[in-house]
Amino acid sequence: MTEQALKELLDSMTLEEKVGQLVQCNAGQFIANQLEITGPGGELLPAEELCRVMGSVLTFEDAKQAKALQDMHLAADPKKIPLLLMLDVIHGLRTTYPIPLAMGCSFDDDLVAECADMARKESAACGVHVTFNPMVDTARDARWGRILETNSEEPLINGRMGAALVKATQGRDLSDPENIACCVKHFAAYGAGEAGRDYNAVDVSERMLRETYLPAYKACLDAGARLIMPSFNALNGIPSVANKTLMNRILREEWGFDGVVISDYDAVGELVTHGVAADAKDAARLAMEAGCDIDMVKNAYYLHLAELVREGKISEETVDAAVMRVLRLKNELGLFENPYHGADEKAEEELYLCPAHREIARRAAEESAVLLKNECILPFRKSIKKIALIGPFAEETRLNGFWSRPGAEKYTVTIPEGIRALLPDAELLIQKGCGAEFGDTDTEGIPAAVRAAEEAEAVILVLGEPENYSGEGRSRAELNLPGPQMELARAVLQVNRNTAAVLFNGRPLVLTELAESAPAILEMWYPGTEAGNALARLLWGDANPCGRLSAGMPRSVGQYPMPYNRTNTGRPKPPPDDRPAPFSSCYLDMPNLPLYSFGYGLSYTDFQYERLTTDRKTIHKNEELKVTVTVRNTGKRAGKETVQLYLQDPVASVVRPIQQLIDYRKVFLEPGESKNVCFTIREQQLRFFDFTAHEVSEAGEFRVSTGYADHLILTESFILAD
Ligand code: NOJ
Repeated sequence: MTEQALKELLDSMTLEEKVGQLVQCNAGQFIANQLEITGPGGELLPAEELCRVMGSVLTFEDAKQAKALQDMHLAADPKKIPLLLMLDVIHGLRTTYPIPLAMGCSFDDDLVAECADMARKESAACGVHVTFNPMVDTARDARWGRILETNSEEPLINGRMGAALVKATQGRDLSDPENIACCVKHFAAYGAGEAGRDYNAVDVSERMLRETYLPAYKACLDAGARLIMPSFNALNGIPSVANKTLMNRILREEWGFDGVVISDYDAVGELVTHGVAADAKDAARLAMEAGCDIDMVKNAYYLHLAELVREGKISEETVDAAVMRVLRLKNELGLFENPYHGADEKAEEELYLCPAHREIARRAAEESAVLLKNECILPFRKSIKKIALIGPFAEETRLNGFWSRPGAEKYTVTIPEGIRALLPDAELLIQKGCGAEFGDTDTEGIPAAVRAAEEAEAVILVLGEPENYSGEGRSRAELNLPGPQMELARAVLQVNRNTAAVLFNGRPLVLTELAESAPAILEMWYPGTEAGNALARLLWGDANPCGRLSAGMPRSVGQYPMPYNRTNTGRPKPPPDDRPAPFSSCYLDMPNLPLYSFGYGLSYTDFQYERLTTDRKTIHKNEELKVTVTVRNTGKRAGKETVQLYLQDPVASVVRPIQQLIDYRKVFLEPGESKNVCFTIREQQLRFFDFTAHEVSEAGEFRVSTGYADHLILTESFILAD
């Protein structure tokens, strides 16, 4: 349709029909008046009424249902405006790939794009028009259960991976039935909730907001994302969905975003609970004034928007502008011509879990696993015949993460299956040992687990968090291994030292005791469908671990917040870190540094950094500086190294981080091979936000280093000229 035709359509609509375009309901409400999916559903309207008026629907099952919904709606809607169908496809639809935090550890934007491409194809076949992805909330506190949904504590990684995902998902032309639109979330700073509690208030300076939280959303919008979702939290006192500074000033005026803003689930209605709106009508007014186009699930818009217009409290032009944005999106997706878009039962059958998709998911699971410790235990020898597989997750199928689609566990390759596929002759002694839920105290299974460990040549100790302990509304105050898992670990490690601990969890955990006692630790996160195959290949060396932590792992919850890019303070703690230093910024009872720092991870081979050079000593604002790092594989196996480039700005008008990641590249090296990895630095990368929150770069000395956080090596300096 042309813009003119869309305008004519808008002009022909009644006020109620316009409001309908700005309302979203659950497919369940449509179909059977089923209740909520991820939050309260609000007052339900009769299904036939919903069916006629609603402009969009979230959370449905499959292509068959997508088509049925569209048919029901089009038959009832006198204007025949197709529905928009949206779904949370966060890390795969049927073929589940690792959780976003794990993908962050891959430090591989191309791999993110490859996974997103696979998810796009499966989603399009399922009938999805919009995915609520990427989530790029920078998170620095693992108590927050949604840290699993973000790639990193570092906005550079979130922005780059988010942008890669957007491009791979949306493609060049949204009307292509194989492409779907992206909704970036949760705008803004949702990951900074006080005390790590979900939905909690966020209070950050504008400088901090612009430097740490906003860039990743902006990167995704620059990559073309068509929608954005304001976050649940109050930001500096005003809930995001009603936050005019955030939405009108920054998003629309400053960034020029002209796509669709959709509230989070019931977030408009929650303005009343927050205490900034007197009732649902007031909430509808506030959200509309702040530029929120679609009200997800709660009926504040549906029940009150038309009335607000009639009373002159909201202008019809404001409503029209919002409706036009929704109509344009539908038009761009080609829905007026092809309301089913890519929904296709046959394509679903062909694509879901097809060998090519499984292969991508397996590779992603391998590349995002982080080897945290290895005292020459791993890789195991293939000649080992008797293996004990011990722990509460030894036979677990729920290894997919909170946002995997319902039923994902039916398709998970379990650990025993993965090992048997790789080593058909091996004997597996499987013992659960104990539970892993809060309050589990039963240790009766431990003696049998110990006997299995005594008998076996090697032990795989499978520990972690139950899958539903991370995700939305799943914050934790303690980050230990729940239940008697450490008791099990102690008992097993006492009788068999050829033990590798393997972890499945959705957040950085406190592993201090395990790290002291276990000879090897492999962090698998939630790897998805191919969990068992990936793990077996990693343990026996068919795959070489190459993940690096995209969020540091604390020694204790008390260290939070502990961003790797902290500032020096006036009294930094001098080394060594393992004892307090008087009148310095330190703890009396604990080192300052995390147990495992940002960017850390081991491999089965060794990499040596031989040289770091810059191609000039001084650059001017319009020039580029080339930094070259030489890295050599000095071990006996081929492997991938993540070359990380950090920046320091030793003197500036505001305090600057002691280490700031400004670029990264993953390289593959055969044994003995060396490569020069070249990075380009431009003046933009040297900028920061000054005291008045203006972006500036300041002339003077800068330093670049490689290595990883808290372990920088090979530093060189250069000058930015006036
Ligand atoms: C609430 C979550 O915060 C958001 O991320 C998700 O997209 C919506 N629910 C829809 O399910």
